[in-house]
Amino acid sequence: MTKYLTSNCDHFKSDDIGFASNAIINDGVVIFPTETVYGIGADALSDNACKKIFKIKERPMDNPLIVHASSTREIEKIASIKDVVNFEALSKLWPGPLTIILPSLGVISSSATAGQDTVAIRIPDCNLALELIRMSGVPIAAPSANLSTRPSITDSAYLKKNFDGKVDVIFDAGKTRYGIESTVILPKGDSCLILRPGIYTEDDFKGIFTKVTFSENLVDSPRSPGTKYRHYSPSKKLYMPSSVEELIKIEKKWPGKYAIICSSETGKKIGGKNLLLLGSRNDPYEIASKLYDSLIKFDMSPYEEGLIEPLSGSGIYLSIMNRIKKAAISIQEGEL
Ligand code: TXA
Ligand code: MG
Repeated sequence: MTKYLTSNCDHFKSDDIGFASNAIINDGVVIFPTETVYGIGADALSDNACKKIFKIKERPMDNPLIVHASSTREIEKIASIKDVVNFEALSKLWPGPLTIILPSLGVISSSATAGQDTVAIRIPDCNLALELIRMSGVPIAAPSANLSTRPSITDSAYLKKNFDGKVDVIFDAGKTRYGIESTVILPKGDSCLILRPGIYTEDDFKGIFTKVTFSENLVDSPRSPGTKYRHYSPSKKLYMPSSVEELIKIEKKWPGKYAIICSSETGKKIGGKNLLLLGSRNDPYEIASKLYDSLIKFDMSPYEEGLIEPLSGSGIYLSIMNRIKKAAISIQEGEL
């Protein structure tokens, strides 16, 4: 049976954390909030516990999990930081939406690292999560709490449908702050490769490393195993037209046929009941926080197919577009 607890990132009861940490210590699985998305977590040192996560999520076993820690001291017990220049400056971005790939010291379960000699580590900026890690006394391996290939979950209202009866604890903690997953980086000497963009963007790393590269721009790069899989997709067909003008044209051709996920500015031009608004184009934080929610709402809507606005911009917009491109099917002018 799944136990539901109402503590959240800012207000938590120690009884709740005690109950959940007890589940972690006993090889159980706990869904908890972070500042990015919900995580489905287990004792990162226990192979048995980590395997349960793969099974519940239906995640391929070659896609490693992110290990969550509560302090850099704890990290030094599981990974080597000696070759990371400016680790101190980098670690100032923690607690926060940053995951660093480091050489593993071999302590973390080989299921969690998917047998790789590196380990992905982050210190989340959510007091509930940090307290859960501290009370459990072990690092917690936690991928995003969604079924494999489906959108990450940013609102606890959607957790029950997928995970009731399958996990030991669910924190019913409402909406998460940022709404897209952490930035994953691979530091190498004085350069840094961004494997998955997020709320922290290129600019945040430029003062720390002399060279910052996006793995999307490289042909021959070491990639996050997760990037080769389908991702973040609703179960229905979602199309991304080549421009906003093209999106408006399709809607005019087929009024009300498609659910339309778009900015409030584009929504104003279209009008109608079939809109799922992401918020203003002037506020990338708002758009990021509503993206997965809109994909899930589209899945639950009566519309069979959907359109999503192609957004442009730098910084966080690149991270938002990274998710949209994986969730949607890009279409050319005149295809629909
Ligand atoms: O915000 C987040 O990062 C959330 C919350 C729960 O912390 N977690 C999350 O985990 O998004 P997940 O498993 O959905 O995404 C982890 C990504 C995957 O693309 C995986 O392939 C990559 O990190 N990854 C994990 N370990 C890696 C490693 N050793 N080397 C390269 N990539 C790794
Ligand atoms: Mg994920």
